[in-house]
Amino acid sequence: MKIYDLIGIGFGPSNIALAITLEEQKQAGYDIESFFIEKQPGFAWHPNMLLDNAHMQVSFLKDLATMRNPSSRFTFINYLHQKNRLQDFINLKTFFPSRHEFNDYLAWAAAHFEHCCAYGEEVIEVLPEKRSDEVVLLRIRSRDGEQVIRERLTRNLVISIGGHPRVPDSFSSLQGNPRVFHSNSYLKEIAQHPHAKKIAVVGGGQSAAEIFMDLHHRSPVTEVDLIMRARAIKPSDDSPFVNEIFNTDFTDYVFNSSDQQRAEILNEFWHTNYAAPDLALIEQIFNVFYRQKVSGTERHRFLRRHEISRAVSQRDGIQFVLHDLNTDCERTETYDAVVLATGYDRDHHKSLLAPIMPYFRDLKVNRQYQLGSVPHFKPTVFLQGACESSHGLSDTLLSVTAVRTNEIAQALISTANQTATRQAKRAVSSALAY
Ligand SMILES: Cc1cc2nc3c(=O)[nH]c(=O)nc-3n(C[C@H](O)[C@H](O)[C@H](O)COP(=O)(O)OP(=O)(O)OC[C@H]3O[C@@H](n4cnc5c(N)ncnc54)[C@H](O)[C@@H]3O)c2cc1C
Ligand SMILES: NC(=O)c1ccc[n+]([C@@H]2O[C@H](COP(=O)([O-])OP(=O)(O)OC[C@H]3O[C@@H](n4cnc5c(N)ncnc54)[C@H](OP(=O)(O)O)[C@@H]3O)[C@@H](O)[C@H]2O)c1
Repeated sequence: MKIYDLIGIGFGPSNIALAITLEEQKQAGYDIESFFIEKQPGFAWHPNMLLDNAHMQVSFLKDLATMRNPSSRFTFINYLHQKNRLQDFINLKTFFPSRHEFNDYLAWAAAHFEHCCAYGEEVIEVLPEKRSDEVVLLRIRSRDGEQVIRERLTRNLVISIGGHPRVPDSFSSLQGNPRVFHSNSYLKEIAQHPHAKKIAVVGGGQSAAEIFMDLHHRSPVTEVDLIMRARAIKPSDDSPFVNEIFNTDFTDYVFNSSDQQRAEILNEFWHTNYAAPDLALIEQIFNVFYRQKVSGTERHRFLRRHEISRAVSQRDGIQFVLHDLNTDCERTETYDAVVLATGYDRDHHKSLLAPIMPYFRDLKVNRQYQLGSVPHFKPTVFLQGACESSHGLSDTLLSVTAVRTNEIAQALISTANQTATRQAKRAVSSALAY
């Protein structure tokens, strides 16, 4: 079986950016043969949240390459040039393209790597390949759409699988219920409910806010309850001094801080990203509720400071027991459909790595995103997008993606050099012994 230098799990922006970096490293003489495995049938960037009015939340300059190599041919500006839209884009006068356009840019970049990416295969586990006492390679097992299991061998692994939909405990018994779905599958699922009259949207982040406005425009008869625990929808702060936390050198600062300082930094700036929609979107939602007041109708409701203590499936819909945290009273409401815009967890790599967990000291990464392992485990394993607690809030976003892939590439090159030196020394000593 062929042995790759690197296998990447997932082919979202993080691993596309890595593929670009490795391609450009080839021109510098470093040839790391990589292969990527993506569970979606083709490239798509959060396809079920590609809503008509949604736009990017970071500058297009934080694309797959510019921050690392502005002269790369994979920059967003070169994409615009290739598509003959550069002048028109300039006239838009924005740093924040639509999510549709950025998805098209990412797909354009991904298309360059079709030869080294298998789409439609979900990686299900990572197994150790031993030679005597040493783990020398990793066996990556994936399953395709026809349930066929495939295996590939690699010297190094990078896991860039993004977030996993977070489902609140009160909904765990409703998993698989067609009336209840996460924002991650919103467009696909909402299409199954064209006649839903009363819909609950749970959460107060960007996803909840975008979905609320989408439902508002989708059908004039749909009633939406926007349900959240907080007292108000707070905007994301993207003012310039605060935005410095997403600069690449801030990663060094966060990583080199003590555990306590890091926790404080994350806590202080949490709302720059989480449970924090764009101000313009919040104003649109406020406007919807204001116009209801003017007309004296109550189509939608904003149920702030409400917690869902229980959710059960009934014949006529999903019944919530809602706890009003202000009054401490409970009441029931029934919905035709429920959208959980409740965010994402970022620890799914643990289940993929379960078979090789004994070889890791803990699940901490070093500055170059590499998991620390025991000496007789030779492969290197990197994590992208799961290192927020050690590397800061930019880790799950596009902000540092281009630069991070260079840090990983440098670590791979240095590992390859060390292995080559070890092999050369072994060859010399066995030749001398002979
Ligand atoms: C709706 C939405 C909009 C966003 N907009 C922005 C934005 O404007 N700006 C910003 O900075 N950040 C944004 N983000 C944050 C987002 O995390 C990053 O933009 C970016 O997608 C991270 O790239 P990634 O490759 O690490 O993860 P992802 O884009 O999530 O890609 C991971 C890939 O891995 C695949 N995968 C997962 N598990 C497996 C498996 N077991 N086997 C094979 N493949 C697997 C997935 O199918 C996916 O294609 C947004 C997030 C969401 C949910
Ligand atoms: N256009 C875009 O660019 C775009 C679109 C969508 C998302 N995004 C990005 O995607 C990331 C995730 O955003 P998101 O809005 O999906 O998630 P999020 O920001 O993590 O927000 C999740 C929301 O769900 C609530 N929640 C979580 N668990 C809950 C529970 N058990 N019960 C009730 N409420 C619960 C949270 O409330 P509490 O605060 O009370 O916990 C919060 O309001 C962010 O980086 C965001 O910027 C970008």
